This record gives sequence, structure tokens and C-alpha cells, in this order.
Amino acid sequence: MIDHATHIVKELILRDENINIAVDMTAGNGNDSKFILENTKANKVFAFDIQELARKNTLDLIGDNSKFNFILDSHANIDKYINKKVDLFIFNLGYLPKGDKNITTNWQSSIIAIKKSLELLSPRGKIIITIYPGHPAGQIESEKINEFLRNLNYKKYTVLSLAFTNKINNPPYVMLIGHKI
Ligand SMILES: C[S@@+](CC[C@H](N)C(=O)[O-])C[C@H]1O[C@@H](n2cnc3c(N)ncnc32)[C@H](O)[C@@H]1O
Repeated sequence: MIDHATHIVKELILRDENINIAVDMTAGNGNDSKFILENTKANKVFAFDIQELARKNTLDLIGDNSKFNFILDSHANIDKYINKKVDLFIFNLGYLPKGDKNITTNWQSSIIAIKKSLELLSPRGKIIITIYPGHPAGQIESEKINEFLRNLNYKKYTVLSLAFTNKINNPPYVMLIGHKI
């Protein structure tokens, strides 16, 4: 049963047979990158994070893999590193589980990164964002990202919100964005 935002994300990834290039915009402990490497036919996966601890944990989890590139920088600088079309962007916002809860994504750089992702998105590509409104910074980030996505041109983009309607305490939810085709 799909009972958590992470289950939704995995289902969306598993159903996509068009992933050649993927970017994990918030590598954290590397779980999402590993899932993409193991469950899609992606031949290149890039992962961004600003924390050295995330770099270490991700590389420890994934090991030596020629398909994988970790980039220790903000996802807001993605255009410095990637100039090809990308089939999957995945954002898992918030702070590093078991890490420093003060180092968290923030709405300003998240929105810059989402805008740049839209520019790099391949025609059938997807942007999947897991949002955590249950903590104060996450609440603001949730509001600001929703405001931004609500205003995307509906003739150009499809924006879907996947949320657990009857859960309490502002549970995490997923936004799915793609080109209208
Ligand atoms: C919820 S965790 C990601 C968990 C990860 N997807 C996993 O599978 O383990 C969020 C991560 O975003 C990172 N982060 C925060 N601001 C960032 C930024 N501007 N660019 C890239 N990563 C950032 C944090 O350091 C943290 O590791």
C-alpha cells in the first residue's frame, strides 16, 4: 500500500521507462540516487548536496559506479555543471536525516533550482519534489513552492499534487511536474 511520500516517489520512478539522465537535487544519504541507479535504465545520475557528510554517506552507499557523479554544491548552481536535457529531477527537501537539522533546503534556492530544472527538462521528463511542511522552514518552503507552481502556465506544464488527505500534522507530500504533451 502507498502509505508514505517515499512510496509515491518510488512508484513514479518505477513506472518511467524513459529515464536516461537523472539528477538527484538533494542527495542526503544517497537513497534516492541508489534507487534510481538500481531501478531505471539511467546511464547517468548526478547528485547535488551542500554537505560533506551527505557526500560521504552517498558515496559510501553507492560505492564505485561510473554512472554516478556527486557534486558538492547547491542545486541552485546546476547550470554550472549540466547542460544536457534531463529526464528526471528528484528533490527531497528538508534536512539530512540523522544530520544537522539547521542545514535545510530553503525556498529561495529551491525555487531557483526548480526554475533551472524546468529549463533543462526533456520533453517527456519529470520533476518530482517531496515537500515537508511539518517543520517551520518546511511550512514556508511549501507555501512558496506551491505559489510558484500554481502560477506555471497550464498550457505548457502539468503540475500534480499527491497528498495524504486524511493524515494529521502536515505530512510530507509530492509534487509532480512535466511538460504538457
Ligand atoms: C531530506 S534530505 C535528502 C534525503 C535523500 N534524498 C536520501 O535519499 O537520503 C535533504 C538534503 O538536502 C540538502 N540540501 C540543503 N540545501 C541544499 C542545496 N541548496 N542544494 C543541494 N542540497 C541541499 C541537505 O544537505 C540534505 O542532505
